[in-house]
Amino acid sequence: MNLTTLLTETVRIFIILLPAYVANPLAVLFGGGTPVDFKRYWKDGRRILGDGKTWRGLFGGTLSGGVVGIVVVFLLDGRTSFFTVREIYGGWDYFIFISFWLAFGGLMGDMLGSFIKRRLGLKRGEKAPGLDQWDFIIGAFLLLLFIPSFIIRNFLSITSAVALLILLLLTPSIHRAVNIVGYRLGLKKEPW
Ligand code: CTP
Ligand code: MG
Repeated sequence: MNLTTLLTETVRIFIILLPAYVANPLAVLFGGGTPVDFKRYWKDGRRILGDGKTWRGLFGGTLSGGVVGIVVVFLLDGRTSFFTVREIYGGWDYFIFISFWLAFGGLMGDMLGSFIKRRLGLKRGEKAPGLDQWDFIIGAFLLLLFIPSFIIRNFLSITSAVALLILLLLTPSIHRAVNIVGYRLGLKKEPW
């Protein structure tokens, strides 16, 4: 396993997971309106998810996250040796579906993160180190468990495992950088 192979593999996995990475920041753009929990409360007297998780964010983030992933992969397909739709997804139908599925998974993970935050008594927007940075990746992989063939095809080598680990270690920085940009642009209330 040499360094070039490892870096190429890290980039490959990042591109595969791109819909999950972009779905959250895009949900910030589309978000607002009716919250997913319809303002209901859990038995601990706190909100189930809170006002930061909205239907518009969920739908807008899933659709636009999927589209962003599709466009990027479409542009790479055939132009790079390491990234082709046929090898990675097995076909264009799978590719389209999995792109939206990953964006949806990212947002499901984000909602799971908010659910846990509310149970811990943290208010909307309060920091939860670890959860805020990795919840979307966890969500994406939980949903990928429903498509085992895709996992087998893409993540079952030592190189892939190490590359995934590298990506996970870089993810808090990626997450932070994106959120600082969102904060500076006035799209996000907190820079985390
Ligand atoms: N957002 C949304 N719907 C979603 C996810 C995000 O509308 N499904 C929007 C909300 O406006 C939210 C913003 O994106 O405030 C930032 O997202 P995030 O940081 O995940 O939510 P927080 O407001 O920080 O709430 P929480 O404490 O529950 O994470
Ligand atoms: Mg937040």
